Amino acid sequence: MKMNLLMVAGVVGMVTTMGALAAAAPFGGADDVAYANKLWKAMEKSHYVGGEAIMSTPYTGVHPHGAILDTIEGPLAVDGSVNKVMVKRNYGGDAVTKQAVADDPKKWLKAVTVMYKRPGYDAETKDWFWVKYSPAGMVLKNPKNMALAGKVGKGGSAGCVACHQAAPGGDLVFNHD
Ligand code: HEC
Repeated sequence: MKMNLLMVAGVVGMVTTMGALAAAAPFGGADDVAYANKLWKAMEKSHYVGGEAIMSTPYTGVHPHGAILDTIEGPLAVDGSVNKVMVKRNYGGDAVTKQAVADDPKKWLKAVTVMYKRPGYDAETKDWFWVKYSPAGMVLKNPKNMALAGKVGKGGSAGCVACHQAAPGGDLVFNHD
C-alpha cells in the first residue's frame, strides 16, 4: 500500500515536472503552431511561399541554413496587422547549384525559415516570431520532437534566437541592421 502511494506520488511528480518543462519552453506550443499555420496561409496568399512564390537570386549559403539560399522580405498582413516578414528558402541535394535552383526551385527546396515581426510579442527578442517549415508548409520539429515555431532557441544554446543573437546591430537580423 505504501509502495503504491509512493509510486503514485512519483508519477504525479513526474507529470508535474514535465508540465512545468513544457510551459517553460518558449516555443513549440499549440499556440505557436496555430500561429505558424496562419502565417503560412498569409504568406501563400501574398506569394512569399508556395507554388507562386516570388524568388530572389539564389546565393551560396552558410551553415545551418543550407547549401544554396534565397531570401526575400516585405510587408505581410496577419490578423489585420501589416508587419515585416523575412523568408529564407533553403536548398540542397547532390549536385545542387545556383543555376539549378534558379531553373527549378521546387526540385531542390528543403526547408523554409521565416521571421515575422509581431508587435508586442517579445521585446527581448525584438518581437520576431520564428518558424521552420517543410517545403509544403508543415512546421518542422527538432530532434526532441518540439515544433520549431515561436521564440525558438530563446535562452538556449542552440536554435534560431541563440544563433541570431550574434547578428550585428542587436536586431537579430544578419543581412542588414
Ligand atoms: C547557427 C546559426 C543560425 C541558426 C541556428 C539559425 N540561423 Fe537564420 N541565419 C543565420 C545566418 C548566419 C544568416 C545570414 C546569412 C544568410 O543569409 O544565410 C541567417 C539568416 C536568416 C534569415 C534572413 C534574415 C537575416 O537574419 O539575415 C532568416 C529569415 C533566418 N535566418 C531564419 C532563421 C530561423 C527561422 C531559424 C530557426 C529555425 C534560424 N534562422 C536559425 C544563422 C542562423
